[in-house]
Amino acid sequence: MFLRFRKSRILLGMTIAFLIATLTHSLFAADPLFADAQALISLGARVAGTPTAERASELLIDRYKKLGYEVEVQTFTYPKFFDAGSSLSIDGKTIEAWAMVRSIAGNPSGRLVAVPNYGKPEDFKTVDVRNQIAIVKRGGGVQFIQKIENAAAAGAIGVLIVNNQPGNIRGMLMKPSTIPAASLPQDVGTSLLEQAQKTTVQATLTVKAQPDALGRNVIAHLPNVKQPKLIIGGHFDSVENSPGANDNASGTAVVLGIARSLAKSPAAKQIWFMAFDGEEDGLKGSEAFVDRATQPFLSGLKAMLNFDMVGVNDRLLLDGSGTMTSIAQSITGDVNSSRFGGSDHASFKSKNVSTLFFFRGKDPNYHSPNDKTVDPRLLKETQDEALKIVQKVLQ
Ligand code: BES
Ligand code: ZN
Repeated sequence: MFLRFRKSRILLGMTIAFLIATLTHSLFAADPLFADAQALISLGARVAGTPTAERASELLIDRYKKLGYEVEVQTFTYPKFFDAGSSLSIDGKTIEAWAMVRSIAGNPSGRLVAVPNYGKPEDFKTVDVRNQIAIVKRGGGVQFIQKIENAAAAGAIGVLIVNNQPGNIRGMLMKPSTIPAASLPQDVGTSLLEQAQKTTVQATLTVKAQPDALGRNVIAHLPNVKQPKLIIGGHFDSVENSPGANDNASGTAVVLGIARSLAKSPAAKQIWFMAFDGEEDGLKGSEAFVDRATQPFLSGLKAMLNFDMVGVNDRLLLDGSGTMTSIAQSITGDVNSSRFGGSDHASFKSKNVSTLFFFRGKDPNYHSPNDKTVDPRLLKETQDEALKIVQKVLQ
C-alpha cells in the first residue's frame, strides 16, 4: 500500500515536471529572441570565411527581410589561412591530409619517395625525388619549411610530413612554400612511409589551401534610409569549435529583436541594424565598415550601440564613450566603464563615434565548445533596456 502510494506520487511528480518542461519549452519556442539565437547556435561554429558563416548571414538576411527591412551584404577580405579539405589519393582511396599553414595550393601526382632521417639536404642525396612526392618524418630539429625547401631544391613537386606524435598536426610554416605541403597522422603516415620504402606507391596530393577569408557584414534598414542617426549591431561570427551561443548569437538575436520591436515605428527610419562578420579575427567586419564609410556619414551618427555576450550573467553592464555615458547612466544607473574584451564598438570609437557597449561580463564557457546556451530572460531584458536607450537617443 505504502509502496503504491509512493509510486503514484512519483508518477504524479514526473507528470508535473514533464508538463512544466513542455510548457516552458513551448513558451521559449514562441519567443522570437530565443528562437533566433537558437537558430544561429544550431548552425554550429560560425567561423568567418566558412560555409557555416555564410549560412548564418543568409539566415539573418531572411529574418530582416521578413520584418520589412532592405538588406545589403558588405563583403570584405583579409589574410586568413584556410584548408578547404586537403587529401591524398592512392589507388582511388582518399586519405585525409592537412595543408600546412602557408602552403601553396595544388594537386601534384607522382610516386611517393620516402626520405631517410628528417629531410636535411644530405638526406635527399640518397634518393631521387625529382618530379615525385617526398614523404618525410616530422622532427629531428629540422623545421617544416626547411624540409619542404630541401625537397623542392631536390626537385620534388609535393611534400608529405608524417607526424612524430599520435594524430595529425596543423603545421605552421615560417614563410610560404613553393610546392604543396601537407601533413599526415602518425599511424597512417608511418605505414605509408614504410610502404614507399618497399614498393612503388602512386599518389595524388591535393592541397586546398586558401590564403584569404571572405567576410560578410549584414546591413538592414528601411527603404531609403541613407543617413542613420544610430547603428545598432553585434557580431555573428564565432571562434572555431564553439557554437558561439553567448558569444555572440545572443547579441545578434537582440539586435534583430530590436529591429523587430521597432519595425513599424518612426524610430526605425533613423537606424541601421548590423551583423558584423570577422570580429573574432580582430574586428575585421566593423573595421571594413568604418573604413569605407564617408566622414559625413560617420559624423551624422549620434551613436553606435554594440551587443556582445548578453545571454549569460544576471547583471547587465554598459560601457559608454562620448555622449553615451551620461545617457546610459540616466536610464539604468549601472554603467560599468571597466574595460572588458574588445568588440566592434571599438572600430566606431576609433572614428570618434559615441558608442555604448552592452555586455554581461565574464563567461566560464567563453570561446569553448560549451558556449551552447543563452538565457531567454536575459535576452529579453537586454532588448528592453536597449529600447529605452534608443528612444532617449533619438528624441
Ligand atoms: N565577445 C568577446 C569580447 C568580450 C569578452 C565581451 C568578455 C564581453 C565580455 C569578443 O568576441 C572577443 O573575443 N574579443 C577578443 C578581441 C578581438 C579583437 C579578437 C578579446 O576580447 O580577446
Ligand atoms: Zn564576441
